[in-house]
Amino acid sequence: MNIDDVAIPTDMDGFEEFLQNIKILCGVDLQSKREITLQRLSAFAKNKRIKTFKEIASMVRYNSITRQDILNLITVNETYFYRELPQLKDVIGHAGNLSEVRILCAPCSSGDEVYSLAMLAYEVGIDPRYMSIVGIDINSEAIVQANSGIYNERSLHRLSSYQKERFFTKIDDKYEIKRRMLCRCDFKVLNVFDDALFSLGKFDIILSRNMMIYFDDNFRLKCVERLHKILHEYGRLYAGHADLVPHTDIYAKQFSGGVTFYEKA
Ligand SMILES: C[S@@+](CC[C@H](N)C(=O)[O-])C[C@H]1O[C@@H](n2cnc3c(N)ncnc32)[C@H](O)[C@@H]1O
Repeated sequence: MNIDDVAIPTDMDGFEEFLQNIKILCGVDLQSKREITLQRLSAFAKNKRIKTFKEIASMVRYNSITRQDILNLITVNETYFYRELPQLKDVIGHAGNLSEVRILCAPCSSGDEVYSLAMLAYEVGIDPRYMSIVGIDINSEAIVQANSGIYNERSLHRLSSYQKERFFTKIDDKYEIKRRMLCRCDFKVLNVFDDALFSLGKFDIILSRNMMIYFDDNFRLKCVERLHKILHEYGRLYAGHADLVPHTDIYAKQFSGGVTFYEKA
C-alpha cells in the first residue's frame, strides 16, 4: 500500500487521552498547542500507518520506541550558546569558589548550555580536573547532537569571532566544539520525572532553564522537589528568566548581582 493511500486519523477519539498521557509522562502540557500538536501527530500517524489517536495514546504508555519518537516530535529544543549569559557567569563565579564542582543541566537540549558553562569556566581559569557537567534531556535527538558537539552558525550567534575560533573547529559550514580543552561533559537521555534521575548522584549546582515553562504549577513543584533531592546542602538551583518557580520552603530565594537562584534550605 502506498503511503498516500493511508488516511490520517479523522476521529478525535483518543486525542485528549494522548495529551493527558504526555502530561503524566513528562509534565509537558500541550493544551495551549493543540492545533500544532494535532497536525504533527496526524502526519506522524500517517507516516507510521497508525489509524487512530487511541492507538497512539496507548503506544505512548506501552511502546518505548514510539514513545521516544513522539517525545522527540513534541518537545521544543530551542537553545543557543551563551543564552541568558549573566546567569551562566554567576554560576561559574560560584563554581570557582568551590574546591570541586558537579553541575547538572536539566534540561540541556542539544548541549549548548553545557558547553557554554565549560567554555566560561575555561575562560576564568577553573581547573577542568575539578569540574564536571552532566546534561540530561528527554529528547534523544537533542542528546545525539550534544554528544556530536557539532553546531551551525545560528547556535553560535552570541559568540565573538575570537570565541568561535578559540573553542571550535570549523568544518565546512559547521562548528565542532573542542571538547578536549574543556572539563568533562556527559549527556544522557533522561526524563526529570523518571526515578533514574536519582542515580545521577548529587550536584553542587543545577540549572533548569526553559523547561518548566511547558509545565503547569503542579508539575513545576514536582520538578523542583525532585531536583532538590539531588542537590548537595546549600546547593543552588538556577531557573530560566521565564520559568515560574512555585513557592516552597525547601529553597531560599537568593539574589546575586541581578541574578536569582534558589538555595537548598
Ligand atoms: C527550550 S529547551 C531549553 C534548553 C536549555 N536549558 C536552554 O535554556 O537553552 C527545553 C528542553 O526541555 C526538554 N524537556 C521537556 N520535558 C522534559 C522532561 N520531563 N525531562 C527532561 N527534559 C525535558 C525538551 O526536550 C527541550 O530540549
